[in-house]
Amino acid sequence: MSKIFKSFKASPKYSIKWSNYFDIYENLFQKFLKKKIKIVEVGIGDGGSLFMWKNFFGKNAKIIGIELNPEAKNLEKNGFKIYNGDQSSSDFWKSFYKKIGKIDILIDDGGHTNLQQITTLVESINFIKPGGMIIIEDTHTSFMKNKGFRNPSKYSFINFTLSIIEIIHRRNPNLNKKLNFISKKINSIEYYDSITVINIAKKRLNKSKNLENNKKLRNYFVDYRYKRKNFSKEIKKKKFSNFLTKKISKRSYLYRIYENSIIKKYFKLITN
Ligand SMILES: C[S@@+](CC[C@H](N)C(=O)[O-])C[C@H]1O[C@@H](n2cnc3c(N)ncnc32)[C@H](O)[C@@H]1O
Repeated sequence: MSKIFKSFKASPKYSIKWSNYFDIYENLFQKFLKKKIKIVEVGIGDGGSLFMWKNFFGKNAKIIGIELNPEAKNLEKNGFKIYNGDQSSSDFWKSFYKKIGKIDILIDDGGHTNLQQITTLVESINFIKPGGMIIIEDTHTSFMKNKGFRNPSKYSFINFTLSIIEIIHRRNPNLNKKLNFISKKINSIEYYDSITVINIAKKRLNKSKNLENNKKLRNYFVDYRYKRKNFSKEIKKKKFSNFLTKKISKRSYLYRIYENSIIKKYFKLITN
């Protein structure tokens, strides 16, 4: 049994987490164990998860909870710091970080709506310490129509993170785009079933560089990418694709249509 799952079981108060979360957390959090860190959980219910974090991370970790329900304040007698507030309010986040400063880990287990998840993420990015992370739980709500989530939608949390993927890629100079606070801060995104992890970089990120070794040997190899000839025996059997691959430029519009028709089949294959 993993240490985090043991801590979950040992918590004196009620907690609710999906079964797949424990292995993910056990792996993600290793580097923080026993360290002097600040962890914030949004949405604390009866407080069971706060005890779990404390037990798992150790006595040096400061555990802070954010909850809409004012009764959660009672958990302060157990050594946790509790802030009463609404995660979908940008004003709440501003005053919260003004009071507590930068944190190491933010775990969002609040109301799970698009606005709540997106506000929490964007308002927190600048307040996560280098090497820290933001974890959004229950991201399956981005695909849920029922229970008021009204997704999938253009405005779902997961759709929002697709924009972050593009912004991260702006670090590549081939895109010729300016870097913004997201491209400079977010190192990577990890997706799991119902959990999205936003990894904050250890230092300010900049444009990437294309590095070459053995410069003297450059141009020794012939780049076959755009050659029309195709050596695949399989393709030779098919007349139309043979014609395309031999006669049509691989950069042409027609070739793109041909490629997309194959990709479409792969999309179908993986989404069924
Ligand atoms: C699933 S429960 C949290 C469970 C807890 N994290 C655990 O693991 O046992 C969700 C909590 O989020 C709180 N919540 C819902 N909307 C919120 C919001 N807008 N801001 C802050 N907390 C919210 C609810 O009151 C509820 O206590």
